[in-house]
Amino acid sequence: MSVSVSPTTAAARLLPGKPVAEKILSEVAEQVAALRAAGVTPALATVLVGDDDASAGYIRIKQRQAAELGFASPHVHLPASASQRDLHRVLADFNADAGVHGVLVQHPIPGHLDYDRALDVLDPDKDVDGMHPVNMGRLALGLPGPLPCTPAGIEALLAYHGVPVSGREVVILGRGATLGRPLAMLLAQKRPTANAAVTVVHTGVADWPRYTRRAEILVAAAGVPGIVRPEHVRPGAVVVGGGVRYEGRRLLPDVDESCAEVAGAITPRVGGVGPTTVAMLFRNAVRAAQRAVGQG
Ligand SMILES: NC(=O)c1ccc[n+]([C@@H]2O[C@H](COP(=O)([O-])OP(=O)(O)OC[C@H]3O[C@@H](n4cnc5c(N)ncnc54)[C@H](OP(=O)(O)O)[C@@H]3O)[C@@H](O)[C@H]2O)c1
Repeated sequence: MSVSVSPTTAAARLLPGKPVAEKILSEVAEQVAALRAAGVTPALATVLVGDDDASAGYIRIKQRQAAELGFASPHVHLPASASQRDLHRVLADFNADAGVHGVLVQHPIPGHLDYDRALDVLDPDKDVDGMHPVNMGRLALGLPGPLPCTPAGIEALLAYHGVPVSGREVVILGRGATLGRPLAMLLAQKRPTANAAVTVVHTGVADWPRYTRRAEILVAAAGVPGIVRPEHVRPGAVVVGGGVRYEGRRLLPDVDESCAEVAGAITPRVGGVGPTTVAMLFRNAVRAAQRAVGQG
């Protein structure tokens, strides 16, 4: 079913991420099984630095999911006092290990460590977050490589729910490195599920509602709770909530719930972009294993 932009006052159709993630993960499970049948066990290594409860919880969930999908998941837990050099050594070891195909460093890492410098050490082909500068460069040039997970998940979500993107006006609120900037590059690419007219707005555009109000697809990627309100949304538009802030375990989305009264379709407050982000992590991991054995 396709979603068109038309003025509406009815409650917006929901665009959940869970079925999208399930579809991607079932494909990943099949690809993992095929690799295993060929004698290759795909391995997604995880690195946790410090004792932050939330980070430890996220790593446990990803490890459990990795095991369910058939991945091996070697894990290194460094103490909070670990040095930058300790972290680099772990990454260099995983780089050198041909049996490890993907590496995930759980962030945030303790404040005395520099995540970007660590990412630079990682082999770009093992970067399952798709955030390594080489992979950002590949994205900018349209070359194959791991894609940043949240932007790739948003493209998949729109495609799954039949939201046409090609030729349409997409406005992204936020130009951050994780979401807004790579999403703009991705959705402007010449492919049927992208191919959009993309505008990016940010704090340098004081009158950003002027742009968001004309968007056929509006993506919130600011990390400012409630910043997108109904008066910023074109009636009938598709609204994707990417930006969130956590206060403890409480999730505060960029998109105010009342936007559902104006939008034609909208991601749910919980279970929208999050599940597709995680699915893309595993898709990057299995593709890394396929490439490593000459299948990609
Ligand atoms: N759901 C998920 O799975 C998931 C995954 C990853 C990230 N995220 C979320 O995505 C959001 C963006 O992350 P990021 O790392 O890409 O971005 P970021 O580095 O946090 O940057 C935020 C962007 O929003 C803009 N912005 C902030 N306040 C604004 C305002 N009042 N008016 C206009 N623009 C404003 C900033 O503009 P300037 O550039 O001018 O400062 C910046 O470009 C975060 O909330 C993050 O938690 C969600």
